[in-house]
Amino acid sequence: MEKIPQHIAIIMDGNGRWAKKRGLPRNVGHSQGSKTVRKICEAAWNFGVKYLTIYAFSTENWSRPQEEIDALMKLLRGFLKDAEKQCAENNMRVRIIGDISVLPEDMITSIKHLEEVSAVNTGLQFQIALNYGGKDEILRAVKKAAKKLANEGKNIEDMTTADISSSLDTAEIPDPDLIIRTSGEQRLSNFLMWQSAYSEFYFTDVLWPDFDKKDLEKAILYYGSRDRRFGGLSKN
Ligand code: FPP
Repeated sequence: MEKIPQHIAIIMDGNGRWAKKRGLPRNVGHSQGSKTVRKICEAAWNFGVKYLTIYAFSTENWSRPQEEIDALMKLLRGFLKDAEKQCAENNMRVRIIGDISVLPEDMITSIKHLEEVSAVNTGLQFQIALNYGGKDEILRAVKKAAKKLANEGKNIEDMTTADISSSLDTAEIPDPDLIIRTSGEQRLSNFLMWQSAYSEFYFTDVLWPDFDKKDLEKAILYYGSRDRRFGGLSKN
């Protein structure tokens, strides 16, 4: 493969349908989906991807039944618990994007600890979007940028797009080159709205728990076939 996206972001959709097809509760789909996450982290790194971001829980997901929210939080707690060892073994760095302030105290503590201990790792840079919403992130970033300008004695009119970019949760992370959405839906669902301005999109009917290394390879090959112009003219 010639062109490898530096940053892939994934909307992991279809866990519920995967379970329903098998007559299983939705939570089993999420549990299977979390196993896929681990496999895709490894596969992405082996393909030469440097940054991987997954949409694990959106600001809108709180409207799901409490039982499903609890199951998702249990999976995330399980991930956070194992992650320190996983990160050390694989030289992986984990960062959480989204508003974690509303999460239970024990989760906030584990997240901060994991981010701190994995910060030195230079392998896969893995972002988990948790209580994440693109609009919410932009709003928080604009407020942060405005406060910074005020502190510097500058006028609101001086605000630039760079001020907003550097106030986002993804401030130190390059924008995604490729966004993958599984399970046949073709929408962004409030994911990385600012950062996806020039991303390529890859949609597949494969349900997230079934998504594997071969499917990731297909997405990367598709990306390689795209002519990215960033608003300019083709170089070909
Ligand atoms: C969408 O499927 C999936 C989610 C809302 C949650 C994704 C979460 C995980 C895979 C597990 C957590 C991650 C880690 C890092 C442990 P859906 O429920 O909307 O599926 P449906 O559209 O088929 O109903």
